[in-house]
Amino acid sequence: MPRLLLLNGPNLNLLGTREPEIYGADTLEAIEERARECAREAGCELQSFQSNAEHALLERIHQAATEGVGCLIFNPGAFTHTSVALRDAVLAVHLPLIEVHLSNPHSREPFRHRSYFSDIAVGVITGFGALGYELAVRAAARHLARSPHTR
Ligand code: DQA
Repeated sequence: MPRLLLLNGPNLNLLGTREPEIYGADTLEAIEERARECAREAGCELQSFQSNAEHALLERIHQAATEGVGCLIFNPGAFTHTSVALRDAVLAVHLPLIEVHLSNPHSREPFRHRSYFSDIAVGVITGFGALGYELAVRAAARHLARSPHTR
């Protein structure tokens, strides 16, 4: 069964109470549960991991490569705009990446307009709130069904 890994970066553990006018009212736990359900419906298995620490995300990405994960779904939070290290980790493990954001960073402050991930992603989903994670799971399942070994 294809395996997906959902990664969330810093401050996303605070979803539900964190700037709900921007990020919505759903908790990360609820988002992860819906993503798992969506994956099941698409015939995939989904694991999830959130950390506020760059090194923990790096290690989880490295580990994914040894676990048979087929696709990464990643909301890197603020690391989107800063982390060459996380970008390099994604490139190093040769796993396809779908980048997700709850908000649309392009309609926000200029420092959010640059992403270190978009040009290495299969696709990017932004601005649809929690629904974006469900769309990402469906896109990941479709990508793996069509081209299981390509970025
Ligand atoms: C975010 C957008 C980032 O700019 C921000 O730092 C986040 C959340 C989003 O999901 O909209 O933490 O990735």
